[in-house]
Amino acid sequence: MPSTDRHPREEAEMQNYAVLGGGTMGCGVAQCLAEAGHTATVFEPAATARAAGPERVRAGVRLARMLRRTGHDPDEVLGRIRWVDRLDQLGSPEFVIECVPERLPLKEHALREADGHSAPGAVLASCTSAIPIDHLAGWVSDPGRMIGTHFMNPAPLKDTVEVACGPRTSADTLHRTTRLLASLGKESILVGDGPGFVSNRVLMLTVNEAAAVLAQGTADAATVDAVFQKCFGHPMGPLRTADLIGLDTIVDTLAVLRRFTGDPRFEPSPLLADLVAAGRLGEKTGHGFHRSARGR
Ligand SMILES: NC(=O)c1ccc[n+]([C@@H]2O[C@H](COP(=O)([O-])OP(=O)(O)OC[C@H]3O[C@@H](n4cnc5c(N)ncnc54)[C@H](O)[C@@H]3O)[C@@H](O)[C@H]2O)c1
Repeated sequence: MPSTDRHPREEAEMQNYAVLGGGTMGCGVAQCLAEAGHTATVFEPAATARAAGPERVRAGVRLARMLRRTGHDPDEVLGRIRWVDRLDQLGSPEFVIECVPERLPLKEHALREADGHSAPGAVLASCTSAIPIDHLAGWVSDPGRMIGTHFMNPAPLKDTVEVACGPRTSADTLHRTTRLLASLGKESILVGDGPGFVSNRVLMLTVNEAAAVLAQGTADAATVDAVFQKCFGHPMGPLRTADLIGLDTIVDTLAVLRRFTGDPRFEPSPLLADLVAAGRLGEKTGHGFHRSARGR
């Protein structure tokens, strides 16, 4: 049980942090931890993703320096992150942040394994976009230790995290989670449990409809996004946002929402499915609804 008389950062530093999955979100979360002075161990089973991790974080630190004038040194940040390919190398973490793909079998496997390899009483936080926290809690030995930490992408550039508690999440788990996030300079926005929480219940429907509008020829991708940016003042339109998230992640998240709500509106638009089948996953492959700098 954390004491209340220490600074959140000081307390959080005493813990051993593990990140499961070293993709888009895992690298971003590890960067957030390391930039705040914590050390993090990233468990990533795929050799290519593991090899790409350090360069991803380096690029992320450079971007944060440029956009936020943070002044972090990439080598120092990288010096606080370790990538491993076996769970027994995690070293009994006291706080785990799961960032594996949005697929139920993968989440179940990762959380059950992490539960067995973490310290007694460890917090098990998930970056899930849409799976209800109480569903995840059913896979771990103590459901009170399960919580949702829905970081936004790119995690190091976003100041807020949607924190979702299930009905069985303990007050201690919530307290330890918000303290950790405070130590990263993040504000926690607390929401209740439910498919997609607040953010993705609404956003995924918008992205799906934007794809349908595009497929029907009502407007091209640039125009769809321009309507949201210029008419509504959004910094980014829904199709550009989808490219940033990753169209594979969008399709997986829609499938989760379809399953847990039973609502056919979450059935992925055929255009989304076609783009994913063609390998157009968005920024991570350089081409999704739009071409990104990488895809030019
Ligand atoms: N991309 C976004 O914008 C975004 C934003 C918020 C939340 N999320 C959520 O974060 C989670 C991760 O998404 P992402 O975009 O980083 O996906 P990603 O595909 O970029 O990365 C996932 C990584 O997990 C690895 N992995 C697969 N099985 C694993 C296992 N059993 N243990 C550990 N690692 C494993 C994969 O090899 C891959 O490198 C998903 O639940 C997603 O819905 C994504």
